[in-house]
Formats: sequence, structure tokens, C-alpha cells
Amino acid sequence: MKSIVIQKPNELLIEERPLPVPAPGEVRVKITLAGICGSDSHIYRGHNPFAKYPRVIGHEFFGVIDAVGEGVEKARLGQRVSVDPVISCGECWPCSVGKPNVCTSLVVLGVHRDGGFSEYAVVPAKNAWTIPDAISDRHAVMVEPFTIAANVTGHAQPTDKDIALIYGAGPMGLVTVQALKGVYNVKQVIVVDRIDERLEMAKRSGADWVFNNAEQSLQAALDEKGIKPTLIIDAACHPTILQEAVTLASPGGRIVLMGFSSDPSQVTQQGITGKELSIFSSRLNANKFPVVIDWLEKGLIDPEKLITHTFDYHHVTDAIELFEKDQRQCCKVLLTFGQ
Ligand code: NAI
Repeated sequence: MKSIVIQKPNELLIEERPLPVPAPGEVRVKITLAGICGSDSHIYRGHNPFAKYPRVIGHEFFGVIDAVGEGVEKARLGQRVSVDPVISCGECWPCSVGKPNVCTSLVVLGVHRDGGFSEYAVVPAKNAWTIPDAISDRHAVMVEPFTIAANVTGHAQPTDKDIALIYGAGPMGLVTVQALKGVYNVKQVIVVDRIDERLEMAKRSGADWVFNNAEQSLQAALDEKGIKPTLIIDAACHPTILQEAVTLASPGGRIVLMGFSSDPSQVTQQGITGKELSIFSSRLNANKFPVVIDWLEKGLIDPEKLITHTFDYHHVTDAIELFEKDQRQCCKVLLTFGQ
């Protein structure tokens, strides 16, 4: 089989590898589609501190089960599946409180273990979620990015009374907009970014109001309208955003952080405690595949609005370069395998 391997930072090869055999409890997935995420590009460029090389990247992938290991029902053969990249021990304290996404021995497919940019991948059977016939392949490959929004909203518990402010109209901001509007019927969703084309994408995903903060003050614009967001989600992830969010938030509001910056954020206790703000962080997803599959079945979200490009996997280098360089036109880029 062919696999896309990052040999070391900035060195990508399409390599011939032996067809993997599923171990007990695993299935082998013949991959049809995979999605490119920022973290794939970070591993390619050597900017992901968790990655070990060589590595088959890719943690958003969909395909069909074509072999099962010992102990896995034969009935699973032929099932269309989306794969949850989060592999957890099931026994540590975070796992015992429903947080397998921060398992003390967390393994993420495509980061710590070979992932889905490959013609085949072996994965734990319980990570391969069956996709109902009514959901298309292109929507099924988008389950993983939407699980990030499901995790964020799981913490924030949005309601139709919320006024939400989302920083960043990249893929992560857009999946969150769709969840807030489509699933939770949030009254008003405001999206702020520095790129007008991305703000247009946010409008297509349901944002009620968008604001370009490249040269204008967001605080002044919100003050002028008398808006105090009750829920703020940072999907842009610059360390300066937290203090601004604390300043802008309504008393009693919630803030959800998604960033991994190692630079400090300066923030005052008074700003947080004075308004009794709740600050959450959200990493990957905790058992959210069935939640998103349900959203897709009910038509509450529309992944098509995020997909801007599709490439055959042989052109993966072009695909990643486009994804990295053209944030104006590019949002979600898919790779096709064996089509
Ligand atoms: P992206 O880079 O495509 O989008 C980020 C957007 O934020 C861009 O459109 C950019 O113009 C905008 N932006 C940057 N600084 C801004 C500012 N100060 N104010 C307003 N907008 C600003 O990235 P993507 O894929 O949407 O991911 C967003 C972030 O989420 C990344 O930092 C990524 O590491 C993080 N992430 C976190 C996950 C988690 O589970 N916690 C999962 C996936 C991504």
C-alpha cells in the first residue's frame, strides 16, 4: 500500500509499505477520503512538539472496513466508518471522569501513531464509528472536525438566549458557528477575523454578524451596539485574546479556549472573578463521534460549506501548500484515496 510519510520535518514521501494486519481488537480501514488539518501541516513543518518521526499523518479519515482482528465481529466487514483519532487507556482518572481526550497515556492517530493519509490504516475497532447510509462519504470525513465543536459546546452548554462571539473564521471557528446556530439555535453569533474572505465563509455557515478586527477595535464596535457576549470561543488562539475576551464578556459569561500556544497570556483575576466568568478549555473530543453523526443525520450542520478543495493523494504536497498559503480561498481540503 502507499502511505504519506513525514520522514522528518519538511520531508514528505509517498512510500510503499506492507499492508498492515489488524491486531486483536482492531480493524483495517481501506481509506477513501481524508481531511487536511493545521496540525498535519505543523507535523510536516516540524512545529508539533508531540510528533515523532517518521509519521504517517492524518487524523480526519473515512473508509470501509476490509479486515478485522481477533475478537472483532465479522459483521463489521464492509461497514463505512469514520475514525476517532483519540485512543485512550480507559482506566486512568481522566478516562474515569469521561475525558479520554486527556488520557494520561493519550495516543492520537496521525500524531503519536500512524494515521490516515494512507491507502489503509489499522485502528481499534471501537474507534471506527459506523456511518449511516444517509450520510455521504464527503460528510462522513468531516465528522472529526465537527467533534471539536461538539466538545466545545459540551463544555459551554449554549442556549438560545446566548450572544456568542467567536474569534477566528478558520475551519475550527466555522464548525463552531454551525453547531451554535444549527444545533443550539443561539440567538446571535458574532464572528471576528482579520480576513474578509473568511468572514464571508462565516456568514455562509450562519454567523449573524461578522467583524474584521485587523484595523478596527472590536471593543468599540461592541460597545457602540451595547453588546456584551455571554459566550466567547477562541478559535483563533492568539495568547492576547484571553484578556480581551475577559474584558468583553458579560457578567456570568463563559469563555472557551482552544489554543496550544506556549506563550503566556496576561490576564487579571479581578477581570475574571469580578464577573464570575467560567473559563473552559477544550482539547480534541471526548466520545463525540456519535453526537456529530446524529447532527449530520438530522441535517443540523452542513460540512459542504467548509470544503473548498479536493485533491488526489498523489498531489498531497500541492494540497498542503495551498492549505498553508491561501487562507483567503482555502478552508477544508480533502484528499481522495483509491478513487
Ligand atoms: P486557521 O489558522 O485556519 O484559522 C484561524 C483564524 O483565526 C484565521 O482565519 C485567522 O485569520 C484568524 N485570526 C488569527 N488571529 C486573530 C485575531 N487576533 N483576531 C481574530 N482572528 C484572528 O486555524 P483552524 O484550523 O481554524 O484552527 C484554529 C486554532 O484552533 C488553531 O490555533 C489550532 O491549533 C486550534 N485547534 C484546537 C483544537 C482543540 O481541540 N483545542 C483542535 C483543532 C485546532
